[in-house]
Amino acid sequence: MEYLKVIGKKNLKGSVKISGAKNAALPLLASTILSSRKIDISNLPDVVDINTLLKLLEMLGSTYNKKNGILTIDSTTINQTKATYDIVKTMRASILVLGPLLARFGHCEVSLPGGCAIGQRPVDLHLKALEQMGAIIEIKNGYIDAKAPNGLKGATIVFDKITVTGTENIVMAAALAHGETTIINAAKEPEVVNLCDVLKDAGVQIEGIGTNTIKIVGSNQKLLDFKEFTIIPDRIEAGTYLCAGAITNSILKVDNVIPEHLEAVIAKFEEMGYNILKEKLSITILPANKIKPIHITTTEYPGFPTDMQAQFMAVATMAEGVSIIDEKLFENRFMHVSELTRMGADITLNGTVATIQGTPKKLFGTDVMATDLRASSALVLAGLVANGETNIHRIYHLDRGYDKLEVKLQTLGANITRDEEKK
Ligand code: EPZ
Repeated sequence: MEYLKVIGKKNLKGSVKISGAKNAALPLLASTILSSRKIDISNLPDVVDINTLLKLLEMLGSTYNKKNGILTIDSTTINQTKATYDIVKTMRASILVLGPLLARFGHCEVSLPGGCAIGQRPVDLHLKALEQMGAIIEIKNGYIDAKAPNGLKGATIVFDKITVTGTENIVMAAALAHGETTIINAAKEPEVVNLCDVLKDAGVQIEGIGTNTIKIVGSNQKLLDFKEFTIIPDRIEAGTYLCAGAITNSILKVDNVIPEHLEAVIAKFEEMGYNILKEKLSITILPANKIKPIHITTTEYPGFPTDMQAQFMAVATMAEGVSIIDEKLFENRFMHVSELTRMGADITLNGTVATIQGTPKKLFGTDVMATDLRASSALVLAGLVANGETNIHRIYHLDRGYDKLEVKLQTLGANITRDEEKK
């Protein structure tokens, strides 16, 4: 198995180009199920989760090829409607084929995603909303068995909680439904907006894009005339590299990013004492004279993203004082705490709240274990400032959502290498 070796204490400099957003590409690939034609997709990130969803679509009957960074995918040939356990167990976002398959074929079976490292993560809100659209849903042998023989019908959906993939599933289902659907308390993450914009270009009547209330008029099960589209930049990948600049107190620029997508993150860097320069498609972080502690509460967009929580915890270990991080979205998203503590960090947990006593320049390298995607990036960040060598194991978590992370960090001057574990 591979691991990453990081030799700390190196200042970083230069700029890094951000890849397409994993969490925008996943629903957009699933949405190709709704298309009446082949589609060209650009700026797709080269990460494991994207390949997993392509494998799932191929298993359902799609065909695709990649040339010069463009993916051409044809999902008109889909002839299967069962998303099997062996794929769904590797990536819970496979649930995103549920809405489009049911809307197009009137029936499908999707393995019920289990829990994951960061929490129980039920999909009850997805199922409840589809039932309101007329679906008959049963859980059979660990599978969601969904039927809508006459197609789905428009409905008014009020989500009890804001759910990103729940909103995306219902937006895609509503796009082919009979009549109008209104989603209230919808998610408005940039990734949801990217999906809605692409469906609108494909001829779907959608109002309220980017707000908590989205109205969609369905096509009465007529497949959609998709145009070629581009995946938005990955705001979480961008935020992670800005954290690399912050934790090493270096000047670092991230290119191919939309600064508006990171307002809440930028505000926290500024509160910590860093200077931030924003340009049209780039952000530069400048060193802080003194790294100040921070209070963070994770919430839905446009608030502070839970997917940046672990990375900011690593930065907070370099602050002069006590930081507080309250994780409100996922009940088990502090798996990185024990690993950072192994590196000498001083962090105490109390329920959803982590208290970080800054230990500037006191972290030391050792062997640590990645537990989930964002936790693993926090360990890499800590390794950049630790005394000595940090070895990060189980980096398959990292490869799920970061496109060539160590290569990009090497171009910024980091001493990081990928190696095979000795048997
Ligand atoms: C998306 O997950 C992202 N994944 C996550 O990113 C991200 O952390 C999360 O949104 C929040 O921003 C993708 O887009 C593929 P939710 P999702 O449904 O949609 C509860 C990463 O690191 N809930 O918005 O699964 C749920 O348990 C990943 O890239 C229900 O109770 O998250 C959570 O507490 C990790 N019932 C809250 O809502 C439901 O039916 C928000 O979850 C659905 C959700």
